[in-house]
This record gives sequence, C-alpha cells and structure tokens, in this order.
Amino acid sequence: MKLSVIGCGYLGAVHAAAMASIGHEVVGIDVDQHKVDALASGRAPFFEPGLEELLVAGLASGNLRFSTDVEEARGAAVHFVGVGTPQRRDGSAADLTFVHAAIEDLLSIVGDGEIIAGKSTVPVGTAAELADCVSGTGAVLVWNPEFLREGWAVADTISPDRIVVGVPSADGQSTPEGERAADVLRHVYHTATAKDTPFIVTDLATAELVKVAANAFLATKISFINAMAEIAEVTGADVTTLADAIGHDNRIGRRFLGAGIGFGGGCLPKDIRAFAARAEELGRSESVAFLREIDEINLRRRDRAVQLVVEALGGSVFEKNVTVLGAAFKPHSDDIRDSPALDVATRLHGLGANITITDPAAIENARRVSPQLRYVHDRDDALRSADLVIVVTEWDEYRRQLDPVYAASLVAGKVIVDGRNCLNAEAWRAAGFTYYGMGRP
Ligand code: UGA
Repeated sequence: MKLSVIGCGYLGAVHAAAMASIGHEVVGIDVDQHKVDALASGRAPFFEPGLEELLVAGLASGNLRFSTDVEEARGAAVHFVGVGTPQRRDGSAADLTFVHAAIEDLLSIVGDGEIIAGKSTVPVGTAAELADCVSGTGAVLVWNPEFLREGWAVADTISPDRIVVGVPSADGQSTPEGERAADVLRHVYHTATAKDTPFIVTDLATAELVKVAANAFLATKISFINAMAEIAEVTGADVTTLADAIGHDNRIGRRFLGAGIGFGGGCLPKDIRAFAARAEELGRSESVAFLREIDEINLRRRDRAVQLVVEALGGSVFEKNVTVLGAAFKPHSDDIRDSPALDVATRLHGLGANITITDPAAIENARRVSPQLRYVHDRDDALRSADLVIVVTEWDEYRRQLDPVYAASLVAGKVIVDGRNCLNAEAWRAAGFTYYGMGRP
C-alpha cells in the first residue's frame, strides 16, 4: 500500500521505516530539511537501536523516501500523523500547533476515500474536532495511538502488543466508513494482525484516552513505588526487596516498579500534565487530581538524590568532584527531554560541585541544553579523581560492565550513589565503597 507519514521524529521516522520494512511504499514528510536529509541518506537523526538498518534497507528497496514537500504524500491510501505534541510553554496543556499544521497541510492534498490516521498523543476530544475540519474532503479521520518505547521503538512498531483504532461513530456504532477504515488499517498492520495481535476498534474518544490512560497508569506505578521509597527511607526498609515481593503477585507485576530518581522523557511527564489540564477543561479535575501528586512525588525524588549527594559529601558539594554516570532520561536513548539524570547533574552544579558527566549516547544533546557541565566521552576518564560517583541512567556500561574493584582504582573518594537502584550494593561495599541507594538502608 502507498502510505505517508507526516512528522519524522521518534515516532514518525520509526513508523515510516517499519512500514516500509513490511512491504509498504512509504513517504515520510517533515518540515525540517536537516532531518529529511539525514533520513534520506540512511542516517537516524537520533539514537534508536535498529532504525538505521531499517532506513538503509528501505531506501535501497525503493520502498522508502523522505521529503519536505507534502505534495509527495498525494495519493497515499493512509496518511499517518506523527508530529509532536509538547507541553505548552504557558501551562501544562498540550501544544497542538504541529497537529493542526499537519492536518491543514493534508487538507490540500487528500483525496476521496483516503484515511488520515492520527498517531500523536492528543487531549481527548481533539480527533472529533479535527474530523470536522476533514469532513467535505471525502477522506476519513481515525485515531491510531502509538505505544512505542524509545530504545525498543522498532520492535514495538513491528510487533506491538495491541493495536487500537478509533473510528467515527454514531449512536455508539462505528459508521460504515469507520469500519472500512479499520479494515484498511488491519491490512496495513498485516504482519501483526496475522499473529493475532489484539486489534481494538473503538470510537475516537476512547482511542485518544487509551493512550493517555496507559501513560498515566505507568507514571502512577513508578510514583507509587517511589512513594514507598520515601516511607522506606524513614523506616529503614528496603524498597527494592519490597518491589520484588509485591511484584511476585501477578496482579501487580514487577515491571515499572523500579524506584529511583523517577520518570522523565518526552512522554510520561507531559502526558500526565496534559491529561490533568484536559480533565479540568472537562470539569472533571477531581477525577485525575492524583496525577498532580504523581508528578510531585516524581519530582521529589530528584531532590532526594541531590540531598543524598550533599549528605554523602559531609554537608556540602562545593568544589567537590562529582562524576555523573548518565544524562539520557533512560538507557538505550539519547533523549534528554525532561531527563531526571541531567536535572540532578545541573542542580549539583548549581550548588557548586565540579560536575563531570558521561553517557554512551546523550552527550551532544545534553551539552546543547546544559553547556555549563564538563562532558567526557570515556567512562574511565570521567571516573578519575571523583570524590563521589552518582549513577543516574542505568546503562549496562555502568550497571553490568563497571567492576567496582576497578572503579575503586580510578576514583579519589569511594562513595557511590545509586540513583536507579541498579547496582549490586554488596559488590560495591566489598570494593570499599560507601553505597547509597534510593529508598534503601
Ligand atoms: C513511554 C511508554 O512506556 C510508552 O508505552 C509510550 O508509547 C511512550 O512513553 C510515549 O508516550 O510515546 P518512554 O518515554 O520511551 O515510553 O519510556 P519508558 O520506558 O516508559 O520510561 C519512562 C521513564 O520512566 C524513564 O525515565 C524511566 O527511567 C522511568 N522508569 C521506568 C522508572 O523510573 N522506573 C521504572 O520502573 C520504569
């Protein structure tokens, strides 16, 4: 099938390459010429394992191309919209400027029977408004939220654990053109539907809500365990053992119960804020009032990490050498948007510490937003002369591949703060380090 993807960021670039890899003819459109040039020459403009291989293969097969000109999308059976919906500068709601611009562009080229499939995360009610703009063109607007995780985006796109399609409905029933659009999307995702991946057809509002509800739930799970970490800190309990123990109950599950410096990135923080803002507009702010608590618990963990470093260094970090391992908001990503790791590093710098920071993928992005920090590519160079080391992104380079005995030979002070509870505390203690975890004795 001929497909277009409007917006070639984390979501759109991966979607375009993945759809080409399963046999579709895909054009990716983005307003950013640099991004388009990079993608068109087989280079991923951001770190995403497996993406470059797909780009190279797609370009070589002739199934994949990129352009800044929306005219190139003319004639596609489905136009996916995967542009960003960042937090507004003047508040916590989502900024829909890029979504409106993408739809506006598409209106000039869409034809009868074509499908516009929104993938961006939007406040509930957005799709219905956009459907009004599209009516009269002969095209049909559906909402097909994306659940990919950065770092696993290729696998999540090709083999998602569910596909959700919101279609136009009337009196609680999908309209005939909605049903037809859902069938077209079943065909688009033929590799997943052939494997019986759950394919949920619903109305537009439910589809929009599924996405924000999923992210709100994940954020709640993380903040729940971080709240338990706060209680553990005043009782001498160990939150990691607690998480293991409650995680064995398969109604609860161990995943997303990793206590530490909390969640960040381009999705969870802004999505829970946008959800709370939308609920308020709908007169239902009390229904998701807990999301504000979730946000606050999350941000308090960054304060706690800074406080631990100050305490571990005897009450002041002024002119102390602090090595920060990690800058990305999570491993397998170079994304530093709302990164707890970089936030902790810049706050310690603000308190007068001499920060040396390293990361396997995110140094260039971090340097752009926090140029005041000292960046070192080599992990071992970064560790030399540290009075204290803090792990803030659980890359394997720090979690598995850093031998505490070897680390002890590099640092000046054997003090380690494990901001992600990802290290073997016993091994670090045995190597002579004073070990501090988050919510651990
Ligand atoms: C998240 C969701 O997991 C995806 O399903 C969703 O599609 C995506 O947002 C999106 O809306 O686009 P992502 O932001 O890539 O994906 O990252 P996650 O793996 O969810 O991690 C989010 C943050 O939570 C990271 O900072 C991570 O370090 C933190 N986290 C995660 C914890 O602090 N503890 C945990 O146990 C798990």
